[in-house]
Amino acid sequence: MGKIVKTIRKGFREILRYFPIKKYVTIPTLYGDLLKDRVALITGGSSGIGYEIANCYLKNGACVIITGRNINKINEAVKKLKENNLDSEVYGFNLDNSNIKDIDKKFKNILDNINNKKIDILVNNAGVINKTSFWNSTEEDFDNVINTNLKGTYFLTKVVAKYMIDNKIKGNILNVSSSSSVRPATTSYQLAKWGIRAFTKGLAKELSSKNIVVNSIAPGPTATSMILDGDDNINRPSSPIGRYATPEEIASLSVILVSDLARMVDGDTLLATGGCGNLTYDDWD
Ligand SMILES: NC(=O)c1ccc[n+]([C@@H]2O[C@H](COP(=O)([O-])OP(=O)(O)OC[C@H]3O[C@@H](n4cnc5c(N)ncnc54)[C@H](OP(=O)(O)O)[C@@H]3O)[C@@H](O)[C@H]2O)c1
Repeated sequence: MGKIVKTIRKGFREILRYFPIKKYVTIPTLYGDLLKDRVALITGGSSGIGYEIANCYLKNGACVIITGRNINKINEAVKKLKENNLDSEVYGFNLDNSNIKDIDKKFKNILDNINNKKIDILVNNAGVINKTSFWNSTEEDFDNVINTNLKGTYFLTKVVAKYMIDNKIKGNILNVSSSSSVRPATTSYQLAKWGIRAFTKGLAKELSSKNIVVNSIAPGPTATSMILDGDDNINRPSSPIGRYATPEEIASLSVILVSDLARMVDGDTLLATGGCGNLTYDDWD
């Protein structure tokens, strides 16, 4: 019976999506020099939120390095970022977060190929999702999500943080968590995002005395291919705010979080959820 009611509610919400309460909204973009002379390494910067973070960091004066698994996708993203931001410095490298044994080597390769630049911002954004329920989950699905979203982030951060400390860099680390990190966790994705939020606090404690500030941003459902598959309808009646976040608005907030404006924010997670998870627990199905 519960399942039937759920299905009817879901169907009703799907119908509501096509009554465009807010099909298109105008989101302001942050432009300026908040990140002038900064160098940011953004994992998973070849699409979605990571790509828009790269784009917005460039618009605010930073040099940007993006990573991902698929080199063609990375090269395409680098080309687009350069076209959108003339005279900017953008680099792209293959770095698979889930391949832990290669992380050290891949990071050294990045350092060797960025014109002696010093990386002072790390954005841990790379991630994959798996919506399989607790009862249908398999070890393989679980490992895939945890290895990319949590284990990979943990070990890459260890390498980059050590590099920042060794080079006496005044740095920032920004982790991309999710509204899933404040929901009851039964899926590997939710567990990984709880882990990222906890890691943010622990890491901030570890690194604040080393002049490295660590925070996290927790987007709610965001209009990227991860959940929308190219659909540009950002209506979301089940969200308190009625729509998906756009990757561009998450990106603008991310600029502030790694800038000197937010130097006093440390170990924190900024919920950018439109109320999802934060105000309600029932917007996932
Ligand atoms: N969309 C949402 O509703 C939402 C909400 C909250 C949080 N987030 C988080 O935001 C982050 C970005 O997601 P998105 O929505 O922008 O998804 P997306 O468009 O699918 O982008 C994911 C990015 O991560 C990269 N990636 C995936 N696995 C990787 C790995 N093993 N190693 C390196 N790079 C990898 C992808 O590159 P390749 O294709 O080359 O692997 C791609 O660049 C994720 O951490 C996600 O959990 C998303």
